[in-house]
Amino acid sequence: DKKVTILDLKKKYQEGKPLTMVTAYDYCSGKEVDRAGIDMILVGDSLGMVMLGEKSTTSVTMDQVIHHSKAVIKGNKRAFVVGDMPFGSFEASPRDAVQNAIRLVKETQVDAIKLEGGKKHQDKIKAIVEAGIPVMGHIGLTPQSVSSFGGFKLQGKTAEEANKILEDALALQEAGCFAIVIEMVPHAVATSLTRMLKIPTIGIGAGNGTSGQVLVYHDMLGMYSDFLPKFVKQYANISKHIQEALSNFKQEVTSRSFPDSLHSFSMKENELNEYLT
Ligand code: KIV
Ligand code: NA
Repeated sequence: DKKVTILDLKKKYQEGKPLTMVTAYDYCSGKEVDRAGIDMILVGDSLGMVMLGEKSTTSVTMDQVIHHSKAVIKGNKRAFVVGDMPFGSFEASPRDAVQNAIRLVKETQVDAIKLEGGKKHQDKIKAIVEAGIPVMGHIGLTPQSVSSFGGFKLQGKTAEEANKILEDALALQEAGCFAIVIEMVPHAVATSLTRMLKIPTIGIGAGNGTSGQVLVYHDMLGMYSDFLPKFVKQYANISKHIQEALSNFKQEVTSRSFPDSLHSFSMKENELNEYLT
């Protein structure tokens, strides 16, 4: 299949067709998301939680995002791949931001990068866009700042908070973002913001008035049970299948019914006879 480009995404948005994005972190998950015909793959810093077992995303490093992005790229043929800029890789200066964004693209061949934050990071976004790298914004609940929010909490609940998110969205559009992730805000806020912008919004916990939706692979497939946000729909319970398979293996090995002849190798009769004598 033909590779999805930024122009294909723009066209879909302009035609009012919803955009789809799912995270992936390795060769096999990248391959699955691509094969399903999802528009975009996000190599999210959520990898810290679902791949590495951390309690938040703040410990994730550039090296880890690069390591996982390389594997996803190998499994992908068609989808547009976005690499997530981890906490600490862009906040200090536009120079840091550009250097790390270039490193991510150069070492992995992702098609774009994503970074968290609004108006305060406009200068970093502008610098990355000027370097020729498409930037996806991320506002509302930005998990890298979870400590300053006091937890994974709904953002934009009050009119004042909602207006601040609206201002952030406009600042990101102005800075040159090609799309914006909007996480965990009331449906009405995400919808009005989407109507106001000329670039697509990709919602997660933001209702169905956005231009597209994103979910974390392990969440939507029922493979991560530490914590299930209200906005996650589990489209499968893969964890249950894994448990069934593992306990069947254990039972069959214990009872010596695995491996059976179907899963073993035999010798030709004459060779066997000669071997045994
Ligand atoms: O890291 C991630 O998975 C994300 C999505 C939830 C948007 O940033
Ligand atoms: Na992220």
